Amino acid sequence: MASLSFPHIFIFSIVSFILISNVDASEPYELVNKFCSKLDKVDFCLEVLKSDNRSQFANDVTTLTRIAVDVSTQNSTKTRDYFQSVKSGPPGVLKSLKDCIGLYDNVIKNLRLCMSEEDCSLTSYDIHAAGEEVKRCQAIADSNGAQGSFITSSNNVTQDLCWLSESLANLSCTD
Ligand SMILES: *[C@@H]1O[C@H](CO)[C@@H](O)[C@H](O)[C@H]1NC(C)=O
Ligand SMILES: *[C@@H]1O[C@H](CO)[C@@H](O)[C@H](O)[C@H]1NC(C)=O
Ligand SMILES: *[C@@H]1O[C@H](CO)[C@@H](O)[C@H](O)[C@H]1NC(C)=O
Ligand SMILES: *[C@@H]1O[C@H](CO)[C@@H](O)[C@H](O)[C@H]1NC(C)=O
Repeated sequence: MASLSFPHIFIFSIVSFILISNVDASEPYELVNKFCSKLDKVDFCLEVLKSDNRSQFANDVTTLTRIAVDVSTQNSTKTRDYFQSVKSGPPGVLKSLKDCIGLYDNVIKNLRLCMSEEDCSLTSYDIHAAGEEVKRCQAIADSNGAQGSFITSSNNVTQDLCWLSESLANLSCTD
């Protein structure tokens, strides 16, 4: 193959490199797999991020953070609306819901705000603050003897979602 002169090989190499790197970059869920594998709850992370098709070809962790935050916002909004719709039940549950509705309003506000921050550490801080409001709701449920109720299972989901969003925001600071 004496006909492959140096410039030809050179161009061939560059073209191959570009083709190979494009294939790599568009591997579906490549970034989802990469970042979820860095976290403790890998399966939960995969489930949440894959529920939104923007994650399939996401090319930065900020996009993944935005998806987790969007899922968290939607889920906590539905939870808050459900809390508002409950009109009967054990007194400890009803008493807790009164406070938890306001606390979930704060959760939603923080989650809506976080992606407009200038800095990834402020994004992380806002999400953390949302998680603290969920903890307050849980402490109130505990003190009212409602720890075994749907309030606790809802708070567990919201806390997991906030944890995931905050973890991804933190990774976006270091990546
Ligand atoms: C992603 O999902 C949305 C709504 O579910 C849909 O409108 C859109 O076509 C989907 N996009 C792709 C690339 O699959
Ligand atoms: C929130 O997400 C969890 C986990 O995917 C789901 O089981 C639950 O039904 C959702 N809650 C609401 C109110 O949508
Ligand atoms: C909520 O999470 C706590 C702590 O992880 C766990 O002990 C509890 O069983 C969970 N409760 C529900 C109802 O999911
Ligand atoms: C995110 O980073 C902050 C600041 O370093 C840290 O305090 C927090 O525990 C981290 N959160 C998670 C979920 O890793």
